[in-house]
Amino acid sequence: MALPLVILTHPLPPEWISTLQGRVRLLVGPAEPPGFAPHLLEQLGGAEGILCLLTDKVDSALLEAAPRLRVVSNMAVGFDNIDIAACTLRKIPVGNTPGVLTDATADLTLALLLSSARTLFKAAMDAKDGFWRTWSPTGWLGADLRGATLGIVGMGKIGKAVAERAKGFGLKLIYTDSKHLPEVDAQYSAEFRSLDNLLRESDFVSLHCPLNAKTRGLIDETALKKMKPTATLINTARGPIIVNDALVRALREGWIAGAALDVTDPEPLPPEHPLYDLPNSFIVPHIGSATHGTRRRMAEMACENLLAGLDGEKLPNHVNPDIYPA
Ligand code: DGY
Repeated sequence: MALPLVILTHPLPPEWISTLQGRVRLLVGPAEPPGFAPHLLEQLGGAEGILCLLTDKVDSALLEAAPRLRVVSNMAVGFDNIDIAACTLRKIPVGNTPGVLTDATADLTLALLLSSARTLFKAAMDAKDGFWRTWSPTGWLGADLRGATLGIVGMGKIGKAVAERAKGFGLKLIYTDSKHLPEVDAQYSAEFRSLDNLLRESDFVSLHCPLNAKTRGLIDETALKKMKPTATLINTARGPIIVNDALVRALREGWIAGAALDVTDPEPLPPEHPLYDLPNSFIVPHIGSATHGTRRRMAEMACENLLAGLDGEKLPNHVNPDIYPA
């Protein structure tokens, strides 16, 4: 019997996807540009599985062109690149990779928080560029963490992992979510706030909510104006949660002190974008999960989901509600 055709939108190291060997026929896309390459789109008609990245849009038009499709496996925990309702309508389960990238993303969040609090990027550049001429009592001054307030927006797995780490730095923790989570208060010595109050009280605001219709544009001009002029905004979730133009104005006009971003809108952020030129913005290229172990495990989980879907079994991690009978 012919092996099922699977479209892998981006090359992955063979040892990360070794479980697919002998189980599927792989059609692999190029490393760049992101998205479904033309030669993949041509073969959609015969594809039974798709293993894609967060940069690949799976919408109804694509699904229309793939009548034999039985599973979509996203190598990411976020799945805002996929039209879940359209997949569910066609009874196509969608897999994701929760849990495995929690620590790596929380680590990077703390790295961004520390880097911006202590002006690390500027200090390192100044040292390299010859501006370190003396030990200056007033040079490269940053913020103290102990006693400062960190506001966590979205207290899911990653938000909690950030809270756990932040406690060690003596930060006071407040959080917001769709509802008050009493178990979180006790476990992390954190206090629930409305988003408005969190924005008003925090010295650092860190975003950890998924991107969906409710959170798109959540941090807009009104929200940014509620923040302290000394506060820093950190985003390791999804770029479109922040309204970019409003953020540029906030940083230029001093509504807030700084932003540290792992995710942007769009991605990649073009080199000529004004956010790069602002001295108070610090941008890294969506590397929250970028550790050897994490990325490998994400790929392995994506393969597990893919193979389960092809075998007609329940995906170990799926995101469409109501896809399997109770
Ligand atoms: C995800 O998996 O959604 C992350 O953004 C990848 O780093």
